[in-house]
Amino acid sequence: MKFLFSSLLSLTVTPLLLLAQPSPDVQARITQAIADAATDPNPDLSTLVNVFIGTANDGDVCPGASVPFGMAKFTTDMTGYAPAGYITNPDEQIKGFSPLHDSGTGASGSYGNFETMPLLCPDGFDTCITHFNLRKRSRKPDTDDASPGYFALTLDNELKMEATATRRAGLERFSWPSGSKPYIVFDMAFDNAGTWAGGSLDIDPEKGRITIGGHWSSSFGPSRPRYQAFACYDLLDGGRQEIDEYGIWRADDYGLDAKGLGQLHLNLTENLIGGPIYQSGALVSFANNPESITMRVGVSYVSKEQACQNAEEEVGDASFDEIVQRAKALWNDRLKKVEIDIANTPANITEMLYSSLYRASLTPNNATGEAQGPFADTSAYYFDSLYCSWDTYRTFFPLMALHSPVEFAQIVDAYIDGWRKTGWMPESRTNNVPGYTQGGSSADNIVSHFALNYAEEASELGIDLNELYQALLADGEANPPEWNTIGREVDVYKQYGYVPFAVLDAFSMGRQTREASRTLEYSFEDFGIYQVAALLNKTEDMDTYYNRSLWYRNVWDPSVESDGFTGFMQKRRPDGSFEYSDPINCSPQNQGSRSCSFEADNVNGFYESSAWEYSWFAPHDTAHLIELMGGNSTFVNRLNHFFDAGYYLAGNEPSFQTPVGYHYADKPALSVDQVRKVVFQNFGITAAGLPGNDDQAAMASLLTFHLLGLYPVPSTSELLILSPFIPKYTIHNDYLSTSTTVTVVNYSTDSIQEVIPAGTPAYVESVTVNGVAVDTRCHFDFQDTFKKGGDIVITLTADKDSANSCAGSVPASLSNGGF
Ligand SMILES: *[C@@H]1O[C@H](CO)[C@@H](O)[C@H](O)[C@H]1NC(C)=O
Ligand SMILES: *[C@@H]1O[C@H](CO)[C@@H](O)[C@H](O)[C@H]1NC(C)=O
Ligand SMILES: *[C@@H]1O[C@H](CO)[C@@H](O)[C@H](O)[C@H]1NC(C)=O
Ligand SMILES: *[C@@H]1O[C@H](CO)[C@@H](O)[C@H](O)[C@H]1NC(C)=O
Ligand SMILES: *[C@@H]1O[C@H](CO)[C@@H](O)[C@H](O)[C@H]1NC(C)=O
Ligand SMILES: *[C@@H]1O[C@H](CO)[C@@H](O)[C@H](O)[C@H]1NC(C)=O
Ligand SMILES: *[C@@H]1O[C@H](CO)[C@@H](O)[C@H](O)[C@H]1NC(C)=O
Repeated sequence: MKFLFSSLLSLTVTPLLLLAQPSPDVQARITQAIADAATDPNPDLSTLVNVFIGTANDGDVCPGASVPFGMAKFTTDMTGYAPAGYITNPDEQIKGFSPLHDSGTGASGSYGNFETMPLLCPDGFDTCITHFNLRKRSRKPDTDDASPGYFALTLDNELKMEATATRRAGLERFSWPSGSKPYIVFDMAFDNAGTWAGGSLDIDPEKGRITIGGHWSSSFGPSRPRYQAFACYDLLDGGRQEIDEYGIWRADDYGLDAKGLGQLHLNLTENLIGGPIYQSGALVSFANNPESITMRVGVSYVSKEQACQNAEEEVGDASFDEIVQRAKALWNDRLKKVEIDIANTPANITEMLYSSLYRASLTPNNATGEAQGPFADTSAYYFDSLYCSWDTYRTFFPLMALHSPVEFAQIVDAYIDGWRKTGWMPESRTNNVPGYTQGGSSADNIVSHFALNYAEEASELGIDLNELYQALLADGEANPPEWNTIGREVDVYKQYGYVPFAVLDAFSMGRQTREASRTLEYSFEDFGIYQVAALLNKTEDMDTYYNRSLWYRNVWDPSVESDGFTGFMQKRRPDGSFEYSDPINCSPQNQGSRSCSFEADNVNGFYESSAWEYSWFAPHDTAHLIELMGGNSTFVNRLNHFFDAGYYLAGNEPSFQTPVGYHYADKPALSVDQVRKVVFQNFGITAAGLPGNDDQAAMASLLTFHLLGLYPVPSTSELLILSPFIPKYTIHNDYLSTSTTVTVVNYSTDSIQEVIPAGTPAYVESVTVNGVAVDTRCHFDFQDTFKKGGDIVITLTADKDSANSCAGSVPASLSNGGF
């Protein structure tokens, strides 16, 4: 999800020297850890992770303290565009510190509820500056610090804020210069998207407890339904701290600054006149001038009581350092699923890989036991922040399929539960409520990917494939009355064989734009359904969905020409005529200003993409695209032109598969060259090291596949073979009790750069799996490789010409008998 066209096109990279955050010590520590890990047989992999990658250049990554898939992610909330709370830009200021965030989601800014902020109030309680527009402060340069499970930030007045986390709770530790009286302000109403709609706050001075609850709206969806959230702050640190003053406050931008020393309750409804949020909350000071205060924080989407209980159960009496150590241990368990030959891998590659694997386990947020609305009391697993499935089906879930079937099955259960409770699987669950759909029902490609890779294990993993199939059919057949947030506009699609432009749809509501890209995505979703129908021997449905998965062809206009290439995807009217839009529109070379996203005046026919970009999209039938485009050599020339002319957009999901497209034209060495360029031109180890929004680790998982020399085709078990950036790695699948080691013969670190120097081995010459030669060097199947475990040997050669064919079959396509 890129959301804003301006950010879609913002490829500007903040100059490194201007970045005063994070602290240079962070990279120095990681560099040392990588050097040490080279000789350590059992390295602490969490020390190799740079959590700040993607915290500049609109990467929208949350570097906050979190456990894997944590519901709580503790970080600061800042001025400026900072959807994940934190950004490195030193010009932006800190408004507070809070326990709920998303990572890599963009939009208007997610969560940020229940902010706190340490204050200095030398003239006492009544003079404390509580309103966030007035209390906001800059940071001390070069001091931001974080690592998996830990976050710290120092303000320019030397006040330090630290946090560590469990799944639904954590500890916040604030420090003051010696001799100052500690004050802490708590917010009842704030969230990053500014959507508060009523809530309450209670102070219990005896227990030293503040509880807060309220209602807010999704950051990427309609304002209703609203979600509820709760927090519980325990202030006494097991009796080691003593509260002095306490009370409530309210404030606005125009003079209201009222405090009620000794008052214990706030209970306010939504402000129906609208306008700026009335700030309100609690204010507390502590006795005996301690230099630091540790607060235990629990969060819940069910109740204040449950928020307190979560803190009691998950943190209990544990110390700050104990919680940090527990979080690190959980991260090591996740990161250990991929072990690499650190000694022989370039340090930047090691850091990029483990940082990507980290983010690929940071979301979605495991809110099991915390479901609300139609999901309240569900017995299924429940994950928040499934947005957007259009982003994550391509690489995020396929990466999970390689090593984490248990976690993957839990998330699939949550998708199926969406169908059980609402009639359709979620496309974009944002802040616990339905957000906007991007391509249709992309969940179809997620649950079908699970089914295709784990059919035999599904029932033991808690997934009933027949139920999964029913959920797919609902997405494929049932047109919801409103398809902006769930399902697809499937009635007109079925009637015409494409989503027609300007069609009279009398029975369902949605924004009738993006007709070409919706058709392309719907047809790939239908391929996902076809695959499961085939798996389950549903012969009649197989036929139906096979046909529907070819409907991408119905928006191919063979007459459109651009830069000398003919044939492009275009939107189409109900009478069959095409509606022309220049294929360059909404590409990075777009001329003039234009709406390209959800806007009502996005008349281009595509969602956040150009016809140049989306015309490559038929991952299940590229062989036929090659025919449409005029054969293999024209296809290759057109791919080259696409990259050379600057139409490719590395950070945009429809572009994910394009760099490996050469495989389908039997030119795999060109894919290898292209992926090297993609990685070195767009990714790195700095805060600006992502080409825009991480999109809930869609980018992180794409980069992981590129570094491993693999590319997954969604809704299948096929993997394309490329040239690994790492000489040797092992993927552990604990559930299957298998380990698969990929060894790269003739690996050369000289090849690990943007342009592979002539004479350097980098191209795949041959591949063996457990000693048996694979009969093509372009692809193999998960079922025959990582599923079984053992040894994969990829032998490289410098002879690019000899390696520039598959020496066997090209990857599968429907139209040449594949799948
Ligand atoms: C807040 O006030 C409303 C009435 O305005 C009441 O119904 C509700 O129970 C109160 N909530 C809390 C948590 O005190
Ligand atoms: C590693 O990344 C840093 C930071 O971007 C860069 O300065 C350095 O050149 C990179 N090293 C290599 C060997 O590419
Ligand atoms: C999610 O939380 C539940 C409840 O604690 C746990 O059983 C499950 O393993 C967790 N799953 C993931 C992927 O974190
Ligand atoms: C589908 O049919 C194949 C071949 O007849 C058979 O091996 C397989 O067990 C069947 N699968 C199911 C789920 O019925
Ligand atoms: C699928 O398409 C083929 C060829 O156009 C046609 O013969 C067949 O009837 C179609 N099947 C279904 C179920 O629509
Ligand atoms: C492209 O090349 C592949 C592999 O050599 C071949 O099977 C296919 O028929 C070619 N496609 C066209 C349209 O010529
Ligand atoms: C490794 O690459 C070199 C240079 O291209 C080549 O001569 C040699 O045969 C390769 N080794 C293997 C095992 O293929």
